[in-house]
Amino acid sequence: MAVLEKHAETSAPVHDIIGKRWSPRAFDSRPVEHAKLRSLFEAARWAASSYNGQPWHFLVASKDEHESYKKILESFVEFNQSWAKNAPVLAISVAALKFAHNGEPNRHAFHDVGQAAATLALEASNLGLQVHQMAGILPDKAKQLQANQQKLQTSGSVMNDAARSQLEKEIERQQKDGERFQQDAQAEVQELQQEVQNEFVKKLTPIIDQLAAEKGLQLVFNAGQSGISWAAPGLDLTPDVIKKLDGAKAPATPKP
Ligand SMILES: Cc1cc2nc3c(=O)[nH]c(=O)nc-3n(C[C@H](O)[C@H](O)[C@H](O)COP(=O)(O)O)c2cc1C
Repeated sequence: MAVLEKHAETSAPVHDIIGKRWSPRAFDSRPVEHAKLRSLFEAARWAASSYNGQPWHFLVASKDEHESYKKILESFVEFNQSWAKNAPVLAISVAALKFAHNGEPNRHAFHDVGQAAATLALEASNLGLQVHQMAGILPDKAKQLQANQQKLQTSGSVMNDAARSQLEKEIERQQKDGERFQQDAQAEVQELQQEVQNEFVKKLTPIIDQLAAEKGLQLVFNAGQSGISWAAPGLDLTPDVIKKLDGAKAPATPKP
């Protein structure tokens, strides 16, 4: 469960459970009630799917199911493990790539699993919970990549040209996927840092305005960026700003 509530600033009215949904990286340590978990997967079950094939499967573990929880967590990339290890429930969605009724390939399987995941996330929002979906399960890919590289090393010389070139292309693709994921993860961290900084600036600006008005100041400098090499200590507003920031903090949410 997320510790913080957010609401999207939508450009047209949407249902509250859509506006409230977001992907947190901080979680309340309380377990999710079994009945609520059942509702989440029941919601997923009722998602639309091509030929009503319902090509989704979910591997689910609550924190108290230690072995299964650990197995799921270990299949995430390090960055995702760093925050997901605090989530009370972990799950992996799996797509069946062939239709059960005729064994033919299902080109819509990933789309349908996505729909089930979205439906589940909205039901979570409805129940006051949040879901953080992630694609970062790189260790599996890394294992696959490692296996292919080994295959090329041991049997590359006896493979025909076409097979070797196909394997090389596959390795190149897997390497690119890995790099792309790392870049995405870095961009997300930067975005998060920017978000936190923006929130801070939002709180800081009215406090500086107020202090400037109280002290009759016309200009306030950021000492670190202004090029000022010395100023009388009495001119430093930092202690007053900190005092006001501390005073403006919301009281802690009472524990249930
Ligand atoms: C398919 C998919 C893959 C994602 N992969 C990751 C991931 O590996 N790590 C992560 O921290 N967030 C991941 N996210 C979360 C997205 O970054 C997040 O949904 C997006 O930034 C929008 O933010 P919001 O969900 O709070 O509205 C993923 C989301 C989806 C739907």
